[in-house]
Amino acid sequence: MALKTPGHSFWLTCPPASLYTLRAMLYDVPVNLGERSYGIHIGAGVLDRLGGLCAEADLKGKCLVITDENVGGHYAKTVLESLETAGYSVCLATLPAGEQTKSGDQVFELYSRCIESGLDRHSFIVALGGGVIGDLAGYVAATYLRGIPFVQVPTSLLAMVDSSVGGKTGINLPEGKNLVGAFYQPRLVLADLQTLSTLADREYRAGLAEVVKYGIIHDAPFFQMLEENIAGLLNAGNVELLAKVVGRCCEIKADVVAQDEHEGGLRAILNFGHTVGHAVEKVAGYGEIVHGEGVSIGSVFAARASVELSGLSMEECQRIEKIFMALELPVNARGYKWTDLRAALAVDKKTIAGMPKFVLVPEIGKSTIGNEIPEPLMEQLWNDL
Ligand code: NAD
Ligand code: GLY
Repeated sequence: MALKTPGHSFWLTCPPASLYTLRAMLYDVPVNLGERSYGIHIGAGVLDRLGGLCAEADLKGKCLVITDENVGGHYAKTVLESLETAGYSVCLATLPAGEQTKSGDQVFELYSRCIESGLDRHSFIVALGGGVIGDLAGYVAATYLRGIPFVQVPTSLLAMVDSSVGGKTGINLPEGKNLVGAFYQPRLVLADLQTLSTLADREYRAGLAEVVKYGIIHDAPFFQMLEENIAGLLNAGNVELLAKVVGRCCEIKADVVAQDEHEGGLRAILNFGHTVGHAVEKVAGYGEIVHGEGVSIGSVFAARASVELSGLSMEECQRIEKIFMALELPVNARGYKWTDLRAALAVDKKTIAGMPKFVLVPEIGKSTIGNEIPEPLMEQLWNDL
């Protein structure tokens, strides 16, 4: 399967954006999934438009906004007011921040909150936060009363470019990340770039790892544009550049998801860097290495494996390593033993019959799925990292 998105449509063709235009106008990226289609709306200073967008999406009744302690203090008030102004009856659940919150215990607590808040099948959930809140709240929405609608309001860069789009919801088990979940699409996504101004630098940079991923797997001109704009990318306040970057990432993800919603094949390209990335996160202890940092380390591992097995040139491999370093992301995880990492790889979702599967890249902008790396090479690549 090939992607339909032209090589570099969004960031070349979208109108020039200023803070003013991004406030007044939303960039819309459609996710085309038949009757489950929805829009990703991107702007700056636009959280107060949530209620109106929910009404346009035909959402009705009561609503439970789920957020975390870091995000709620900044943005819950605006979101609640916007929903109330649009006529919704709204409750708020504020959870502890961090990866540990994506747990079975929290799911059951949230079911109780849904019942206390009087949510019925005509109600909906709003996920206001990063990928942790989006995955968790989405899973609760997918399973409460066998499924009620939900809305993604991503506030971390990682959530804007990846986790809020495409309907993967879920939680971690003590044995591994994202081992329980459901494919369940939101009714709409609203990404307000101005919320990134309060995101910690480390988390913002971690989101850039997922941005770079899209260039590596599918869009060489986009990758080059990123290489040429390192200083701009490191500035979370540069909403003009971010609008184009987030828009392009969403466009690629929407295209992939429209073709392969349930990861029968093509969608697996989005897992580039994630096989080792998830294992590093697990070995380090959830939250010690954040998701995007794991992806950065895993991407360098996969790039080096691609040199050995898929014909990636050493020069392109070095460009991949260099961009992650320029974005101040980790490219090795010294101190973690291969035996621990290998044990974590064995319980990865992508592992079949004990053999982890990797996305490899024959060149920047092209990717292949389902690759195995011989055991001795896996260990050597890890030890060399
Ligand atoms: P996160 O949700 O933990 O957010 C990172 C930190 O930033 C948290 O402390 C959060 O409270 C804080 N934060 C978020 N937005 C903020 C803001 N605007 N201002 C201040 N603080 C803010 O982590 P994340 O990096 O957003 O997401 C990682 C999670 O997403 C992982 O669990 C990962 O498995 C999942 N994920 C899911 C998918 C998917 O397709 N569903 C894709 C990629 C990652
Ligand atoms: N983040 C990988 C996916 O959505 O498939």
